[in-house]
Amino acid sequence: MIEIKNLSKYYGRLGAVVGLNLRIAQGEIFGFIGPNGAGKTTTMRVLATLLTPNSGSAFIDGLDVTKQGREVRRRIGYMPDVMGVYDDLKVFEYLEFFAAAYKIPLRQRQPIIDGVLELTDLTGKRAALVDSLSRGMQQRLQLARVLVHDPKVLILDEPASGLDPRARIEIRELLKELRRMGKTIMISSHILSELAELCDHFGIIERGRLVFDGTFEEIRRRMGLQNKVRVRVADRPEEAAAALAALPQVAEARVVQDTILVTLADGTTDGLIAETLVRAGFKLLALQPEEVKLDDAFMALTEGKVQ
Ligand SMILES: Nc1ncnc2c1ncn2[C@@H]1O[C@H](COP(=O)(O)OP(=O)(O)OP(=O)(O)O)[C@@H](O)[C@H]1O
Ligand SMILES: [Mg+2]
Repeated sequence: MIEIKNLSKYYGRLGAVVGLNLRIAQGEIFGFIGPNGAGKTTTMRVLATLLTPNSGSAFIDGLDVTKQGREVRRRIGYMPDVMGVYDDLKVFEYLEFFAAAYKIPLRQRQPIIDGVLELTDLTGKRAALVDSLSRGMQQRLQLARVLVHDPKVLILDEPASGLDPRARIEIRELLKELRRMGKTIMISSHILSELAELCDHFGIIERGRLVFDGTFEEIRRRMGLQNKVRVRVADRPEEAAAALAALPQVAEARVVQDTILVTLADGTTDGLIAETLVRAGFKLLALQPEEVKLDDAFMALTEGKVQ
C-alpha cells in the first residue's frame, strides 16, 4: 500500500533521508521509530506530497506521490506533528472546513462529521472552541479531521506526543479501531514501548537511514532472545534449574532471584520444560518467553551491537 524506493531528501548538505526503502502492506500498522532529527517527519511529508525528494520515489496505492499528488491526497489522511492555531473556530466548524476542502457534497457533510466525532468520542465537544480543548482532545480532533474524506491510508506523525498515559491509551484504542476498519496506518514515535503492542511491523530510522525493518519477532531474534524463556516454580528453584539443565534441549538454566532463566538449544522449543518439572514434582507457576524491551532493542539495533 505504501512503497518507498531509494528515497533521499537533503537540506543543503544535510541528508535528512538517505536511500530509504520501505514497503508497508495493506491493513498494517507500521511503527516508524527514531530519535529526534532521524528523518521521520521528512519521510512522512514526502509521502503526504508536501515535500519533493531529491531522488528516489514513493508510491501510495500504486500512485506516485511526486507525479500524482492530487490522487494521492485523496487517499491519505496526514496528521502533522504540530496542530495549528484556530482562533474562534468551533469543533464542528473546523471539521466542516476540511469537509469543504475535500469537496464533500454539502448533504453528506453532516452525517460524516457526526460519524467522525462519534468515533473519536468528541460528540459532546461539537460546539466547543478548538483552542479550548485539552491536548488529548485536540489530538483526537486531528484524527477526526484526517478521517473526514475516508482515506485508505493514515500517516500520523507522533499522534500521542505530549499526552498523559490515559490519553495515549485512548489514541491507541482508536488506532486499533481504525485498523479494524481496514486502514493502513503509518505512525511515528520515539516512545518505543508505546508502539510495541500496536504495530504489526517496525522500521527504525537513524540519521536518515533505515537501520531495521521487520516484525517484533525479528527484533527478538536479532537480539538473541528467541530461545530464552523465564520459568518460575513454587519452591526449590535451584533444584528445578538443575533438572532442566540436564535436558538435551536446554543449553543453560540459571536462577536469578526467584526466576529460572532458560536458554534453549538451537532448533528446540520449550515443550519439554513444563512436562519435566511437573513430573519431577515441582509446581510450575509461570513459563513465558523473555520479554523484549524495545528501548534495549533500539539501542542494540541502532548501535550495531547485534547482527
Ligand atoms: N526545513 C528544514 N530545513 C533544514 N533542515 C531541516 C528542515 N526540516 C528538517 N531538517 C533537518 O532534517 C533532519 C531530519 O528532521 P526530521 O524533522 O525529519 O526528523 P524527525 O525524525 O521527525 O525528528 P523528531 O523526532 O524531532 O520529530 C534534522 O536534522 C532536521 O534538523
Ligand atoms: Mg518529527
